[in-house]
Amino acid sequence: MKLNENNLKIAIQKSGRLTEPTIELLQRSGFEFEAYGRQLFATCRNFPLEFLFLRDDDIPEYVQDGVCALGIVGSNVIEEKGAQVKRLERLGFGKCRLSLAVPVAEKVKDLTWLKGKMIATTYPKILRRFLEETGISASILEVNGSVEIAPTLAMAEAICDLVSTGTTLRMNGLCVLETIMESEAELIGCPSLLNESKNKLIVERFLMRIRGVLVARRNKYVMMNAPATALDDIRAVLPGLKSPTVVPLADSDMIAVHSVVPEDRFWEVIERLKQVGASGILVLPIEKMIL
Ligand code: PRP
Ligand code: ZN
Repeated sequence: MKLNENNLKIAIQKSGRLTEPTIELLQRSGFEFEAYGRQLFATCRNFPLEFLFLRDDDIPEYVQDGVCALGIVGSNVIEEKGAQVKRLERLGFGKCRLSLAVPVAEKVKDLTWLKGKMIATTYPKILRRFLEETGISASILEVNGSVEIAPTLAMAEAICDLVSTGTTLRMNGLCVLETIMESEAELIGCPSLLNESKNKLIVERFLMRIRGVLVARRNKYVMMNAPATALDDIRAVLPGLKSPTVVPLADSDMIAVHSVVPEDRFWEVIERLKQVGASGILVLPIEKMIL
């Protein structure tokens, strides 16, 4: 297999927390490719795109330098690397927090405890900025991995690391003292390559497909029956994405109403629909949604 130089390149994490959801998003967006094992790249069968599997820490620089036009990586890595990339889209997965954590046994109450202490991290840049902003003078021990073990080994008194479920902290007798940043997977692009006329159209087509899936994931398709007299109340409850579809039923006093409801307001909307007389409410996932 050979890399096609004319194709757009997208960098994705080779193995880690973002790998599986990234591949899932791309495949659901209609890009067909094989992603198995140890290979470094894959070619898309139905779009002029090459996938490069890289270490997440390398992705911002590869995109900044134009080795890849696009990349998918966590906000935490983008911030730490300080790369000059265009942040195109938040992807809604790989959510975690970059937090300061301390031993539970120390019963630490506030940030001032950190004064004069040593903090181990793989995110020295973000941590330094935070310490400067909060005026806390602590030392930073830069490590490459297994940060959570540093307090046990007496290499540091605190750590600054990613927390997702919190299991790693708990297993090491640590707890969160403060969250420095929220992170999720983001789509980034190389500013100069995105502007090249030969890439523009294809990047736009790529974005439309990805966004079609992202928007669909954030919404549900809702169908319900209701007395025709309840239509005004139902319209008032439905969030105004689009005018709802109203279909007459065999029973002329009744109508069916179809609409799209955002996931984050979903239960609130359903409860209010029931209150104004809707019944037989059906909720369907949306495969794709192009605005
Ligand atoms: C992070 C972090 C912890 C773990 C926390 O590493 O360094 O080890 O995840 O997750 P938890 O709260 O669910 O236990 P990650 O797997 O992201 O690898 P990386 O930072 O080396 O890329
Ligand atoms: Zn990493």
